[in-house]
Parts: sequence; C-alpha cells; structure tokens
Amino acid sequence: MADAEKKAIYIDEEVGLDAADANGSLTAPYKSVQFAYLQHGADAGYQVKNKEKGEAEPEWKPAAKAALKKAANYADAQKKKASKEKELAIRQQKEQEERDKALEEAKKIVITEDTSLPAAKKITLGETRPEIVTLGKGDRATAGPDARGTRVMVFGRVHRERKQKGVAFITLRDGFGFMQVVLSGPLAQTYDAVTLTRETSMMIKGELWEVPTGAHAPNNREMHADYFEILGKAPGGDDAITNKVQAKGDAQTLLDQRHLVLRGETASSVMFVRDAVEHAFNCKYHELGYVKVSPPALVQTQVEGGSTLFGLDYYGEKAYLTQSSQLYLETAIPFAGNVYCIEKSFRAEKSLTRRHLSEYTHVEGELDFITFDDLLEHIEDMMCSVIEKVMAQPRIAAMIKELNPEFTVPERPFMRMRYTDAIDWLREHNIPNENDQPHEFGDDIAEAAERRMTDMINRPIFLTHFPAEIKSFYMPRDVDDPRVTESVDCLMPGVGEIVGGSMRIWKNDELMKGYAREGIDPAPYYWYTDQRKYGGSPHGGYGLGLERFLAWLCKQHTVRDTCLYPRYMGRCRP
Ligand code: 4AD
Repeated sequence: MADAEKKAIYIDEEVGLDAADANGSLTAPYKSVQFAYLQHGADAGYQVKNKEKGEAEPEWKPAAKAALKKAANYADAQKKKASKEKELAIRQQKEQEERDKALEEAKKIVITEDTSLPAAKKITLGETRPEIVTLGKGDRATAGPDARGTRVMVFGRVHRERKQKGVAFITLRDGFGFMQVVLSGPLAQTYDAVTLTRETSMMIKGELWEVPTGAHAPNNREMHADYFEILGKAPGGDDAITNKVQAKGDAQTLLDQRHLVLRGETASSVMFVRDAVEHAFNCKYHELGYVKVSPPALVQTQVEGGSTLFGLDYYGEKAYLTQSSQLYLETAIPFAGNVYCIEKSFRAEKSLTRRHLSEYTHVEGELDFITFDDLLEHIEDMMCSVIEKVMAQPRIAAMIKELNPEFTVPERPFMRMRYTDAIDWLREHNIPNENDQPHEFGDDIAEAAERRMTDMINRPIFLTHFPAEIKSFYMPRDVDDPRVTESVDCLMPGVGEIVGGSMRIWKNDELMKGYAREGIDPAPYYWYTDQRKYGGSPHGGYGLGLERFLAWLCKQHTVRDTCLYPRYMGRCRP
C-alpha cells in the first residue's frame, strides 16, 4: 500500500493517551508510536505532532523510520509472546483434561480386601518384637511364591509420600515410629492413592518384608500393602501442610502454626526427648527415695522478687501465679524427708530473650539435713544421671544425636567457681557489665556476660556464693564471708543458667532480716516462717528450668522450641 493511501494515525507525545480512550484520530491521538503500531500495524500511516514547529512547517509529520522499526520489532515480539502463551494455555488445558480423565478413571478402580488372606495383626509402627513381627526375608519380588511375611494392620498419618513408575511409597507415622509402605498394582491406581497428601490418616494391611539389599527404610523393613482405607484426608494445594509450615519459615508464622510444626521430625523429637527427661527425673528422684508433691500454682506470696509476679483477682483478694514451688517444698520436708516436684512456674518477664518464658516447667528439689557441698553434689548427680538414663534409650539417644551431634555427657565434677572469681575472670577477659564498665563486686552478672564466660570456659560451671543483695530473701550468708550467700547457679555452654539453688535460712531472726532487706511483710509468710519455729533444720534446694535443660541437651537456639506451646511476652496462643 502506498503511504498516501494508508489511514493516518496521529500521535501526540504531549497530550495523547496510550489507552482505550484514544483511537489515533486527530481528536483522540495516541501518546507513543510503539502503542499506536501495536494497535494498527503496518497498514497505517503514522503522523507525529511536530512539537517545535516553525512558521512554515506542518503541524503533523510522518513518524521517524527508526521509531517505526523499533515499534514494528516490539509488536512482533509481543505477537510471538502472545502466541507462545496461547500454546501454553492450550497445553495446560489439555494436561488438566488428561488429569481429570485419569482421576475419573482412578475413581472407577475400587479395591476390596481379599478375605482368603490370613487375618492381619494390628501393630503400631514402632513394634519390633520378633514374636509379633516376623519379616519375609529378602526382596519380595525375587522370593519364591510360597514365601510370606507377617500380615499386619497399621494405622498412621502420611509423613512423606512419593510416586514412582506406578508405585506409591509412603512413610507412615504414628508416634511409636515410622514405617515404609509400598502400594503397587491397582492399589496405587485408586483415586485415593493418586491424590494422596501428607498428613492424611489411613489404615493399611499387608505383609512385612525386609527391604531389598542396598535400600533403606525405618527398622529395615517395608510393608507391601494388599488393602488400605483412608480415614481422614488432609488438604493439598495452598492448604497442604508443606505450604503452611516451611523449615526456614518466619518464626512467628511457625509459632502460629505450632500445632502443625509439632508433626515435623525436629519439633517432635524435642518433645520425645522432653518426655524422656521428665520421666528420668521422676525415676532418679524415686531411686533416691524422694517424695513427689504437688504445690499450688495460685499463691499469695512471692519467692523471686515482685517484678516478675503475675497478679490476679482471686474472689476479691490479691493472688499470684507461683514463681517457684520452693517455699511449699520446704514445708513438706518435715513429713517427707527429701521432696521434689515438677510443676509450672510463671514469670512476668518483660524481656524477650531466647531463654525466658512466662510459663515454664520447673523441676525443684528440697533436701533436708545437708551441707552446701551435699547440695552441689546432688545437683551434679541428678543432671548426669538423668542424661545417662535418657541416653540409655536407643530411640531417644538417636534423636539427641540427630539434634545435637556433638553432645557428650558432661564430666564430673563440674567446675566450681565463686562469684568473686567470676568477677575477676570477667575483668581479666575485658567483658564489661551492663553499664559498659568493668565488673565490680555486687554486680548482677547479666545474661550476655554470663553466656560469654560460659561459652569460653565451655563446660558446666557451678557459680557459687553470690552477694546477698542480688539474691533472694531466704538465702543464708556464708559463715566465712558474710557478704555472700550459700547460693549456686549451674551454667551450661550455649544456654547459660539452667539451675538456681541455695541453702535456706533456717534461723528465725535471720529470716526476719531477709524479709526486711527485701521489704517483704512477714505476715502472709507465717506458714513458711513456722518451719524455723517447729524444728528448723539445715536444708537446701534448687530449681531447674526444664526448657533450658532441653535447649542445652537438644542444641535448640531458644526455649520457645523446647515446650509444646510457648508462652512469653506477647504470645499466649495457640
Ligand atoms: O533461679 P530461679 O529464679 O530460682 C528459683 O525460682 C528458686 N526458687 C528455685 C528453687 O530453689 N527451688 O529459677 C530457677 C531456674 C533457672 O535456673 C532457670 O533454669 C529457670 O528456673 N527459669 C526460667 N526458665 C524459663 N523462663 C524463665 N522466665 C525462667 N526463670 C527461671
């Protein structure tokens, strides 16, 4: 077409529009040659508004050749892109149709249980007793036709699944353990198998076989299914558990989804270790003849200072959530001898550190007729015995190895270090106090300094003999140095303080001075003070933070990951 015959399309870079409102006429010009070309192609003649028009020059002039070429190239590229997108959409639609068709076909495959097979024994996934679980030997595919494994029935949730050449491999989980299950033949072609998602709960029956040489599966076995039923389907797509919780996800999102996170291997292993540790404490205490008591959580007295008390209205009276069961444990020793408890303690901590919770599990022991050295030896014995008991359980030891590969049982005796020596150590190593000054006697060694020192020394430390002024009202003074108390903190590398303990004042007048020093009204403490009146005794005890102990044992960065549902400032859900 000759240029003169082409329909004129107008472009005005100043007032034109690259939008549906423009049509390229004199009254509704476009803004750019590129956009105009995209609308009208090579068959139009493009006229551009002459911006710096002289007297004799026309108002519109033909678009520059270079601009037209660029616009043509762009239009061409756009066309190719559109055509590719169209092709892709067609292909995707076809694939979807094929998938829908395959799913419709899969729905037609109905499996029924073969009643001629031997009855299946119901077992848990952790069951390994040979009298219950005998395995078919060797590779099932190559074993003779008469070879049989035990026919079993299992229940669990899909921990992992993968499909390969018409066979579905499922790792089933039930809390007792894991089991690899193989669905093949029609079983793998059913709608339920084809659409199987993680966390779906199911019942499966089949034979147990050793895994073929070179292959790996939990307990070295796999189940060859002959029948299964879905009990509770879990969602796929956006709601799939793998989308809801991701290993490296944002910490707050993971805490909001803690109920799902707990199904993962790391979080659940920590919970299994926690259970084993708590059980080991109970066993060890009972081996030592300690009596377990259960003091109240709702109290009207403080133990560890007023600043971390959670107050509440108790039928019109002021009450608190307990900070420690210690005072109540002390009242139990006259009837029970040595006592302990594993209860919740509450601290209204205003700081968001990785080792502070508002609600934590407190393992507390109280020992009668002892010396301070007896107390230290007992704490050391408790901690090491609990670890030994836990490590003696193969499943738990394997979990600890996975969580904390370098873990070794600490050597005894733990290092003993007096507070005054710690102050000297911090000064020598240029670790300043909270005011950025060299540490002085009387300073409360702050968390950061304490951790630096513990990590540098890199072994458990009993830090002892803290000044009275920075410790609680009930701690007795050391006879040789009355500035300090018979108190101890056990510090562990990576975490810091795990245990806090002391001897207890057992003389009435001394206790009164302690109340007075801390500004505590003795009246509501009459039941505690009476200990001293009705047959006082040299006694002492300690509290161990279970979450901190676990953070150390399982090498977890924070105590928020060592309890089921952490509570700390700003979080009281789910
Ligand atoms: O040193 P604390 O405050 O000592 C007591 O409560 C004593 N009355 C215990 C006793 O002698 N029966 O706390 C003891 C331990 C700490 O070493 C720490 O492990 C843990 O309790 N703990 C906390 N754990 C998590 N979050 C907090 N906010 C904690 N506060 C203390």
